[in-house]
Amino acid sequence: MSMPRYLTFSGSRREGSFNTAVVNIVSGELSKLTTHVTELSLNDFELPLYEQTIENHHGLPDKAADLRDLFKHHDGLVIGCPEYNGFLPPLLLNTLTWISRSPAGQPDLSLFQGKCVLVISCSPGSLGGIRAAAHLKSFLSGVGSVIFPDMVIVANAFSAFKEDGNLADENLYRKLITTTRQFHQLTSSINA
Ligand SMILES: Cc1cc2nc3c(=O)[nH]c(=O)nc-3n(C[C@H](O)[C@H](O)[C@H](O)COP(=O)(O)O)c2cc1C
Repeated sequence: MSMPRYLTFSGSRREGSFNTAVVNIVSGELSKLTTHVTELSLNDFELPLYEQTIENHHGLPDKAADLRDLFKHHDGLVIGCPEYNGFLPPLLLNTLTWISRSPAGQPDLSLFQGKCVLVISCSPGSLGGIRAAAHLKSFLSGVGSVIFPDMVIVANAFSAFKEDGNLADENLYRKLITTTRQFHQLTSSINA
C-alpha cells in the first residue's frame, strides 16, 4: 500500500479555534499512520477577497500559487469547517475559490479532482456545524473530490475538550480515531 500525503487545515484563523483543535487530533492520528502529514495554517496564506476584476488586473496572488502547489502535492485533505449562519465561513470559501483558478485566470479544478477529503465541523451549537459541513461536502463533490462518507461533527464545543486538547466524550473520541483510520484506508487504496 502506498503512503498517502495529507494536507490538514482549518477554515478558522481564530486563536483557540475549535475546528483547528479537532483537526489537530486527526493530524496527530494520521501522523501515526504515515510520515506525510502537512499541517497548514491559513494564517500563512492571507488572500484578498476573490473577485474577477482583481484576478484580471493582478493575476493569481503569490500565496494562492503557493497554496495550489501544496494541494497538488497531497493526496488527502482534512478540512475543519466552522459554521457561519449555516454555511461555510468566508475565509474557507475564499481560499477554496482562489485555488479553483489557474495562474492564467481560468477555471482549474484539477487540484480537487480525485482528492480524498475528510470533512470536520465543530461548533458551540447542538448541531455541531453539520449544515456547513454538508455544504462543504456538496461543494467538494461538485468539483470532483472523493468525500469520505462519514463527517466528523463535534457539538457543544465549549464543553467538548479536555485540558490536553483531546475530546472529553470517550465514545466520540473513539469514533474520531476510527473514522480517521478508515479515511486513511480509503485514501491509501485510491492512491495504491
Ligand atoms: C458570523 C457567525 C455566524 C455563526 N453562525 C453559526 C451557525 O450557524 N451555527 C453554529 O453552530 N455556530 C455559528 N456560529 C458560532 C461558531 O460556530 C463559533 O464562533 C465557532 O467557534 C467558530 O469556529 P472556530 O472555533 O473554529 O473558530 C457563528 C459565528 C459567527 C462569527
